[in-house]
Amino acid sequence: MRTAIVSAMHEELAAVLALLPDEHKQVAGGREFWVGHLHGQEVVAVLSRIGKVAAATTATALIERFHVDRIVFTGVAGGLAPGVNRGDVVVADAFLQHDLDASPIFPRYEVPLYETDRFRTDAALTEQLVAAVRTALHGTHVHRGLVVSGDRFVSSAAESQVLTLALPEALAVEMEGAAFAQVCHDYRVPFAAVRTVSDRADDAAHGDFLTFIDEVASRHSAAIVAAFLRANC
Ligand code: ADE
Repeated sequence: MRTAIVSAMHEELAAVLALLPDEHKQVAGGREFWVGHLHGQEVVAVLSRIGKVAAATTATALIERFHVDRIVFTGVAGGLAPGVNRGDVVVADAFLQHDLDASPIFPRYEVPLYETDRFRTDAALTEQLVAAVRTALHGTHVHRGLVVSGDRFVSSAAESQVLTLALPEALAVEMEGAAFAQVCHDYRVPFAAVRTVSDRADDAAHGDFLTFIDEVASRHSAAIVAAFLRANC
């Protein structure tokens, strides 16, 4: 069983990489893939970079070139729904692209020719990730539901309000998950994603994101990934 561990940015994955005892680097598509072991399990750790295209490239390389059996994404997101606060954790049940709009040819948000606007994460893997979060981060508020992705850093209360009005179920916003979910759907590779809330996608999002990513993101990711791999061989 080979597990891919992915984050968008170095700050989100640094502590995970520090845990690998025997990794070696392989370069593909301009990315560095770290192949090694963690808690006795084969892992491939990689930074996807930011945005949906970068995410899709990374997911495809992980599947085609590195033959991973499952993909776990860990990182940060902006909280959208009321009560999804900084420091909380969101585990995605499904992903939707909030900036996809091929209307009037297809309904808004629908991914053309898939007849759906969302891709579900793998139910069993998601369950295991929720259990890992509860083990790793006692007392942290864990939300589970829809996460939306788009090629925008949402950094104003006005934009965040537009999103919550259009997509009231959306718990959080980020920039990669929906691309991973779609590629994993195409290849039938189990995918799950966990995001710590770094900001509220409002006027303070920029500053909140930068302090959080430096101080908390990597620690959270490493604790969750370690608990996940220990429990799920
Ligand atoms: N990732 C973390 N915070 C975000 C935000 N406000 N918008 C998009 N992606 C994010």
